[in-house]
Amino acid sequence: MPGAWFETIFDERYPELFGPLEGNAEKEVEDILRLLAVRPRSVVEDLGCGRGRHAIPLARKGHRVTGVDLSEKMLGIARARARKEGVSVEWVREDMRVFRRPGAFDLCLSLFTSFGFFRDEENQVVLGNVGASLKEGGWLLLDLRNAGKGLSRLESWDQTLEVPSGKLRMAIRFNPRTRRATAKHVLTRQDGIRISSTFDVRLYSDRELEAMLRNAGMRVRNFFGSLSGDPFTGDSDRMVVVSVKE
Ligand SMILES: C[S@@+](CC[C@H](N)C(=O)[O-])C[C@H]1O[C@@H](n2cnc3c(N)ncnc32)[C@H](O)[C@@H]1O
Repeated sequence: MPGAWFETIFDERYPELFGPLEGNAEKEVEDILRLLAVRPRSVVEDLGCGRGRHAIPLARKGHRVTGVDLSEKMLGIARARARKEGVSVEWVREDMRVFRRPGAFDLCLSLFTSFGFFRDEENQVVLGNVGASLKEGGWLLLDLRNAGKGLSRLESWDQTLEVPSGKLRMAIRFNPRTRRATAKHVLTRQDGIRISSTFDVRLYSDRELEAMLRNAGMRVRNFFGSLSGDPFTGDSDRMVVVSVKE
């Protein structure tokens, strides 16, 4: 029996299929540290840490970082890189619907759309786990697609990019009934071989997130349109939600 989509697509194909859309993680880490004025030697959770793109630079800067991810493949890549670069990160293979470490973290990061994969009740459980795992006054930063942009205009798009390994076609469809987006990525490599995967995520509005975060013991302090702190507008591609545990 094949598992849920999020149990299967984060494997060795992921860097080719999604890597071309990734920003510069080292710069993103600088931006986040500045945006939140993160204290030296903070205890940081990177939830859905993937290949450690952010966890490793954060640890290199002296923060104590725990990277949590369900995918052994992604964690394998992260571990190998951290070892090679001589950086120490705690890697935990766990489901974000389960992982909780009460009162442990100064900061939790959920980056590059690593939230919204499940049913509403389960997405709320993830926030509950984060709320419980933060110290009082600790921060959560969620970096998400801007739901308002897609849902209000029922935006769907289909685009093909030339990428180093071939041609990458990305087709995104928003379903206004389920308020979920599916993104199908198909890479046709130079040698003609095709690989593909489909991402399926619930896009929450700012109002919905405010309510869910409140239920999880957190209060929204700010919405930004990017990790570098651009103002959040209906046209922003990203919705960066910064909240604090009360
Ligand atoms: C879109 S990727 C982003 C990875 C990373 N934050 C980055 O910016 O490169 C989402 C990550 O969430 C992880 N993930 C998916 N389902 C998960 C779950 N149930 N529990 C924990 N991690 C999960 C995937 O394995 C993947 O590494």
